[in-house]
Amino acid sequence: MIEVSAPGKIYLYGEHAVVYGYPAIACAIDKRTTIKAKELKNNEIILEPKDLGFRSLKIKQNQNKEIELPNKEIKKLDYIKKSIKKIFTEYNTKTGLKLEIKSDLPVGGGLGSSATVVIATLYATKEILGLNTPKEKIAKMGYEVEKEVQGEASPCDTFTTTMGGLTKVRKDKELKNKKPPQIPLVIGSTGKKSPTKKLVQEVKELKGENPGIIKNLFKTIEEITKRGEKAIDKGDLEKIAELMNINQGILDALGINNQKLSKLIYYTRKNGALGSKITGAGGGGCMVALGEKKEKIAEAIKLANGEPIKTNLTNEGVKIN
Ligand code: PMV
Repeated sequence: MIEVSAPGKIYLYGEHAVVYGYPAIACAIDKRTTIKAKELKNNEIILEPKDLGFRSLKIKQNQNKEIELPNKEIKKLDYIKKSIKKIFTEYNTKTGLKLEIKSDLPVGGGLGSSATVVIATLYATKEILGLNTPKEKIAKMGYEVEKEVQGEASPCDTFTTTMGGLTKVRKDKELKNKKPPQIPLVIGSTGKKSPTKKLVQEVKELKGENPGIIKNLFKTIEEITKRGEKAIDKGDLEKIAELMNINQGILDALGINNQKLSKLIYYTRKNGALGSKITGAGGGGCMVALGEKKEKIAEAIKLANGEPIKTNLTNEGVKIN
């Protein structure tokens, strides 16, 4: 039996634009998804999701390494199923597996929970198989799985959860990570699921109808991300926050904001946050507020009917516990 875990993440700048090749800055947080994995001598795959919202499942593999799932479960389990299949296909191998999955992260909540499940599944499976897969390759395989499941995706979530720390990602061009900065943040969850696939699709449609306008918005996000990186390097909290607020305005223009998120954003800004914005896909999920007065910000989140998630940034990516 081995146990691995992978961290969730927040976006400081650049979600959505990152899908189209613009840069984003994200950071791993100390809320993790944990998988206990055990090799099974028969070819069965047993999934025991503790709190991912579905029941235990026994899955059969056929000769072609196809993992067969009962129909109604397919959607929820697609990330896990495709991750196991990916690593089996990549290394032309297979094994029986029992995976027990639990998570500190809200499911579908804009903190990259799907990426944590994908990366922890890949990592646990490669450990069981005794493979020497470098982390960069795990991140790449994870990105391919997310793309397969979601249609469109950026490598940001999977790279950040694999490597940990503060990451800067520009699709196919730049993937780097470094130690996280000291930035006081509080996350606010709306408690409402945000289906990344649907929101990415909505932004794609908006872009299709207004190509010039959306391109300019993405270019502005790129400029925000560049200046944000400099502000982070200098430790200039006010500038980091100001740029988060500008980024939020553009996320609103992209149509991914809603009343619940807006309430959290404005309540926190009025109660100690220097800056606050949606993190991730939007449409529900979470926002993130920057400010030293963490207690006051957490109270504001509660007042706005949200759930505060106190968290710290972490340098620890996917790891064996
Ligand atoms: O909501 P999350 O944590 O899945 O983040 C989605 C971020 C997007 O930029 C909207 C999509 C992506 O794959 O980068």
